[in-house]
Amino acid sequence: MDMRPPEAPYYLAGGNEVALFEQCHARQLAVMLKGPTGCGKTRFVEYMAWKLGRPLITIACHDDLSASDLIGRFLIGHEGTLWQDGPLTRAVRSGAICYLDEIVEARQDTVVVLHPLTDHRRILPIDKTGEVLAAAPGFQLVVSYNPGYQRMLKDMKPSTRQRFVALDFDFPPPERECDIVQREGGIERAQAHALVTLAQRLRTLQERGLAEVPSTRLLIAAARLIGSGIPVREACNSAIIAPLSDDGPLLGAMRDLLDATLI
Ligand SMILES: Nc1ncnc2c1ncn2[C@@H]1O[C@H](COP(=O)(O)OP(=O)(O)OP(=O)(O)O)[C@@H](O)[C@H]1O
Ligand SMILES: [Mg+2]
Repeated sequence: MDMRPPEAPYYLAGGNEVALFEQCHARQLAVMLKGPTGCGKTRFVEYMAWKLGRPLITIACHDDLSASDLIGRFLIGHEGTLWQDGPLTRAVRSGAICYLDEIVEARQDTVVVLHPLTDHRRILPIDKTGEVLAAAPGFQLVVSYNPGYQRMLKDMKPSTRQRFVALDFDFPPPERECDIVQREGGIERAQAHALVTLAQRLRTLQERGLAEVPSTRLLIAAARLIGSGIPVREACNSAIIAPLSDDGPLLGAMRDLLDATLI
């Protein structure tokens, strides 16, 4: 029975990432999505899970995440101890796509539990119960990370890195970003175009010390504010410019670009 919601999540492809992912899925290869924040990685996984008809289990990684958080633990209840599967184990049993967001945030001793799942064995040993689970056919591991953060890919061990097929993501070219902002933000083409032009200009400030450039996500936020009646300048200031920096001169430079774009 097809359990998919009738409507596909909206995802506008940038290249051959859909076909590549499908091939990885069919060949049981794990996938790593690389790219800046807010460029569509999560939306892509949601779309692919829908397209492939697989459940999606997402795990946000952080440095407190333990192997037990992923695999499961014994809980003590009225009727004695009871084993409870963690999200990774549930994904392995049910043949889901398991998406580990921001994998570099997880500690090495947590990440290594993924290793036997990413090679030909496709098994998950559960030490606490003695069970060795074979992954159900549709199971696939997908991880994401943002290069350019302080902790970079070099923090991930080669033995982990080399278990994944890497797909590169970046902000879409202007026309495609306009399509996305127009559709997701629910505004008119001309307004979407102005927001994308502004983003293009702000992104050039990276060379002048702007550590974080505006993502497609921020443009959509601004578009939604505009759609709800907030004046364009105010929406851009609050949703695009202010989140990016606390540095006075940089904020000034960004507002100048805003003025130059909105005339
Ligand atoms: N190619 C795309 N097609 C459709 N929507 C997109 C696309 N790229 C970005 N978006 C829109 O931008 C928003 C942010 O994208 P998403 O949440 O997937 O970013 P991300 O890369 O996962 O970011 P992060 O690294 O911060 O988790 C989405 O909610 C969606 O509205
Ligand atoms: Mg994401």
